[in-house]
Amino acid sequence: MIKKIGIIGLGNVGEAVVRSLRKYSSLIRRRTGLSLQIKGICDKDKSKRKIARKYSVPFVSNFHKLINDSQIDIIIELIGGIEPANSIIEQSLKAGKHVVTANKALLATRGRRIFSLAQKERKTIGFESSVCGAIPLIRSISNGLVGSEVKSIHGILNGTTNYILDKMQKEKLDFSSALKEAQLKGLAEEKPRLDIEGIDTLHKLCILSYLCFGVWPSLNKVYSDGIAKISLLDVLYSDELEFKIKLLAIAKKDKNSLDLRVHPTLIPSDHPLADVSLAYNAVYLDTQPAGQLLFYGEGAGGQPASSSVISDIVNIALNEKGVLRREQKISLVNIKNLRSRYYIRFMAQDKPGVLAMISKILASLKISIASVTQKERGRDRFVPIIMITHEAKEDNLRRAIAKIDKLSAIKSPSQIIRIENL
Ligand code: HSE
Repeated sequence: MIKKIGIIGLGNVGEAVVRSLRKYSSLIRRRTGLSLQIKGICDKDKSKRKIARKYSVPFVSNFHKLINDSQIDIIIELIGGIEPANSIIEQSLKAGKHVVTANKALLATRGRRIFSLAQKERKTIGFESSVCGAIPLIRSISNGLVGSEVKSIHGILNGTTNYILDKMQKEKLDFSSALKEAQLKGLAEEKPRLDIEGIDTLHKLCILSYLCFGVWPSLNKVYSDGIAKISLLDVLYSDELEFKIKLLAIAKKDKNSLDLRVHPTLIPSDHPLADVSLAYNAVYLDTQPAGQLLFYGEGAGGQPASSSVISDIVNIALNEKGVLRREQKISLVNIKNLRSRYYIRFMAQDKPGVLAMISKILASLKISIASVTQKERGRDRFVPIIMITHEAKEDNLRRAIAKIDKLSAIKSPSQIIRIENL
């Protein structure tokens, strides 16, 4: 069976898809009987024509030519961003095409609308490559775990930030040197805001929330924080306390509420997620009845993503149904009501009474201290004091830190990192 596809966007992922489709076409044919033909590729940058020529594929610079081509069955959107990606997908669906996309930012913001349009047009959206690159996570959850309920998700969903944290920890680099290394490696963008501020992770968490719980959350209702404020001191102290700092996407579902958040998190050093190094991604699921599962693999880069794009194309060509969830109504947990253990780093003057003042304020807001570490000494300077708390309410903790940060013996702002009991 021959299926014709049109590819829009010839960046890293686009070119990798063209390359892999050519390299693995006979493997795919042998396994599935499918012959996948690229009817055309499109990029607004006309200099990309030479890439098309290299692979002997027709090049167009106007995507409407592909959307309106009646021979094309599947449109692959790989340009990223909101517009014109959104129009490309909507117009493709209306023109009777299935769509494959890697666009997590678009799905996280317009997913509800896109999936309901796909349902109305009876077409499929393939989005395996939008979360965790090569890891076949979407299909594993939607097919493999169709009879299981996901209770919680803890995910390292961004390769760039994992690379930076890993380098800080292993090579004792500060944040900006580790970021520079990631940029030199071609991992972080020159303007790495989406990765560093946790926004890319947030987008991917929203997609997992739809997949696992049938909930498209509003982006501004989900707490998210990135890694720019993590200092080498925090990485080293966490290590000593037998924790690792990871940027986690967290989802926890109970009967009446869904807790979704993205932030740097201390996890026990002996947990499998703590060993995820470099730009790798991993997702740890707690499910019933399937139990605990760990998915691990390459989450960034053109080649890994191309494997997921191709699996979507093949599945659609074989008439497999895509993911379509009935939306659920459930309230989201406000971060202020979160109960968690916390790592706090104060920079305090090393003089009698400072610790007493800090603990008095913490006690007044029902925050109980589990451990205190102070290594450095220096009467006239600020030294780090590290505290681990027992479980406390986030709102109380924030109020306590705001008071403590006003003390003249404290150099504000104090650092707070949530701890997950994994
Ligand atoms: N920028 C992403 C990352 C890769 O660093 O993981 C694409 O999702």
